[in-house]
Amino acid sequence: MAKIRRIGVLTGGGDCPGLNAVIRAVTKTAIIQYGLEVIGIEDGFLGLIENRMHPLTTETVSNILTQGGTILGTSNKADPARFAVGKDKDGKPIFEDVTDRVLKHASDAGIDVLMCIGGDGTMTAASTVAKKGLPCIGLPKTIDNDLMHSEITFGFQTAVSIATEALDRIHTTASSHHRVMLVEIMGRNAGWLTLHSAIASGADVILIPEIPFDVDVVGEYCLKRNQRGKRFTIIAVAEGAKPIGGERVVNRVVHDSPDPIRLGGVSEVLSAQISERTGLESRATILGHIQRGGTPVAEDRVLATSFGCRAMELATQGRFNEVVVMQRGEVTSVPLEAVANQQRLVPPDHPLVKAAMAVGSTFGAPK
Ligand code: F6P
Repeated sequence: MAKIRRIGVLTGGGDCPGLNAVIRAVTKTAIIQYGLEVIGIEDGFLGLIENRMHPLTTETVSNILTQGGTILGTSNKADPARFAVGKDKDGKPIFEDVTDRVLKHASDAGIDVLMCIGGDGTMTAASTVAKKGLPCIGLPKTIDNDLMHSEITFGFQTAVSIATEALDRIHTTASSHHRVMLVEIMGRNAGWLTLHSAIASGADVILIPEIPFDVDVVGEYCLKRNQRGKRFTIIAVAEGAKPIGGERVVNRVVHDSPDPIRLGGVSEVLSAQISERTGLESRATILGHIQRGGTPVAEDRVLATSFGCRAMELATQGRFNEVVVMQRGEVTSVPLEAVANQQRLVPPDHPLVKAAMAVGSTFGAPK
C-alpha cells in the first residue's frame, strides 16, 4: 500500500447526475476500507485556487447516493493553468497560471492525492497539476460521454433516459398536430447523447455533429413521410449538429471559461428552414440543462460506485496520474495524459448509426 494519509476530492466542469454517488463511493471506500482522511474541495479547482475545502466523513456523504448535482459544488471556469484573474480596460479577461497556488493549498491541507471527478477540461487541469507534482486520479463524468478511452462516463445514462422521455412525449403531441417536431439535445461536439436517445425513442431524423446534414434531404424526408400517411416527423438534433459546409449555432461565448463556446439554437434555425421548404408546421424544443439534473438512474449509481472504488485501489497502490475508464465492459485505467485535451466522437460508421439507418431513420446526409 502506498503511503497516503489524506485524499482530496473535487468535482469540476458541468455537473451531471451521479457526482454525489461518486463522492460517496470515494469517501466511504477511503475511510471504511483504507482508514484514510478525506478533504472535500469546494467548486472544483476553484476551491484549490481560493483555498476553500472541508473534511468529508461517512456522515457527510450519507444519503447522497440518489441526489443529483454535487454536494461539493463545481466550476467550469477554473483551469489553474489559465485562470481569469480580472479584466483589462476593454473588458477582456486577463489569464494567469495559478498552478503554484493550487499546489501550495493542497500541500498545506496535507493532501497526498487528489481525486478529480470531471470531464475532459478537469482531466486536462489534473494532468497539468500532476506534472507539477500533485498526484491526481481522474474519474470521468459527463452527459456528453465524450471522454477519450472510456466507452461510458457516469451521468450519460441518466441524460439518455431524460432525453428519451422528452422525445417520447414530443411524439404524442407531434402526432396529434401533424407537425415536424425538433428536440435539441446537449452533447457539445459529440453526438452520443442524441444518437442513443434518438434510437431509444425511434426518432425519424437524427442529426449529430459527426455527420453534417443537408436541410433539403431532411425536408424531403419529412414530406415523404407525409405522403406515406405518417403526418408527423420527430427530429432529434444535437446542439452541435451542422449543415454540410456550414457552422454550428453558438448560443453564447463565456470568455473566462477554458472552453468558451456554448452551443444552442440549431433546432430553431432548422425548424424555420424546414417549414419554409416544405410548408409543414414545425416546432422546436431545447431540452437544455434539464438533461443534467435530478436523480441518477440505477446504472449511473452502479458505475459511479465501481469507478470510485477502483480510483481508491489505484491511489492506495500508488498508481497515480491515471484515469478510471470502462473498456470492453471492464473497469480499468489509462494515463491522465491520454485523455487530456481530447474528445471521443461518434465514428460515422458506428454500429449504432448503421442500426438507426437499418430501421429507417435518416442522418440527413445525401445518399
Ligand atoms: O459538457 C456538458 C454540457 O452540458 C454540454 O452538453 C453543454 O454543451 C455544456 O455542458 C453547457 O454548458 P453550461 O452549463 O456552461 O451552459
